[in-house]
Amino acid sequence: MRIFASLAIVAGIFTAGAAMAADPVVIKFSHVVADATPKGQGALMFQKLVAERLGDKVKVEVYPNSQLFGDGKEMEALALGDVQLIAPSLSKFDRYTKKLQVFDLPFLFDDIAAVDRFQATDIGRGLLRSMEDKGFIGLGYWHNGMKQMSANKPLRMPEDAKGLKFRIQASDVLLAQFEVLGANPQKMAFAEVYQALQTGAIDGAENPYSNLYSQKFFEVQKYITESNHGVLDYMVVTNADFWNGLPGDVRGQLETIMDEVTVAVNKMANDINERDKKRIADSGSSEILTLTRDEVSAWRTAMKPVWAKFEGDIGRDVIDAAQAANPAS
Ligand code: LMR
Repeated sequence: MRIFASLAIVAGIFTAGAAMAADPVVIKFSHVVADATPKGQGALMFQKLVAERLGDKVKVEVYPNSQLFGDGKEMEALALGDVQLIAPSLSKFDRYTKKLQVFDLPFLFDDIAAVDRFQATDIGRGLLRSMEDKGFIGLGYWHNGMKQMSANKPLRMPEDAKGLKFRIQASDVLLAQFEVLGANPQKMAFAEVYQALQTGAIDGAENPYSNLYSQKFFEVQKYITESNHGVLDYMVVTNADFWNGLPGDVRGQLETIMDEVTVAVNKMANDINERDKKRIADSGSSEILTLTRDEVSAWRTAMKPVWAKFEGDIGRDVIDAAQAANPAS
């Protein structure tokens, strides 16, 4: 009897051990874009590398295309522990920190390389921690690309945007950017944009080529103006309690993987956007307009007043550091 009892205890210990081993930490990674975009690819790469190196301890589940949570809900879900990783565009953190508004200032960055340089500075890296008091930690910046304007009429000069309804992300800087043009900006979740363009509820939008292509916006917009007037970039964020509660070695390995993926995403983002620009051009559905130097300068001048409005909240030091990252600086 005693032998049976001991065996039962030993079996119990083994079963418990097996159950523990079979119970990896689950990281739900939710995002709003397609798999074939820089962010989509990054999420899948993170999933793959974690499976290869930490398969018995951590499992990553990726939910693209607003499948699990869309804009407006994903930060809340992260706070509540319903997801563990998200990567919203830097335009979507208005409610949590005003500092990140720097990334939305029109014509601040000449190109993505400048964005990259700024993010590598102490100030840029410090912004990853700017939402810690709200319980969020930034693990890295992932690039998408420069934004282009789209509409059903050719937008060559700032006056052409007057009176048009533009969808914007939930950013007060972007609101001001279109208001200063005399346009009518409307904050809207990404998942709703295609239908709003298709039905004419809105006239235009702004996005990099990878989103214009993968969401089929180019099929419902006759013109895309290659304005490069702003940047669409992401911060991969996690819940601080969750992250700090992970065993130190697991957290360290996840951070190493995240750093590797960040480098890879930021290397491939430009190629994905170039590829998708070509696909749009080849489709013939939408005409891509390039601007002359004078036309670009007119847009820059028209949008510049937006900077002064947000300088106090963002901080002059942050804007200066961002500007200094441009090639000519
Ligand atoms: C948008 O809402 O337009 C973008 O932020 C979507 C994305 O994540 O690229």
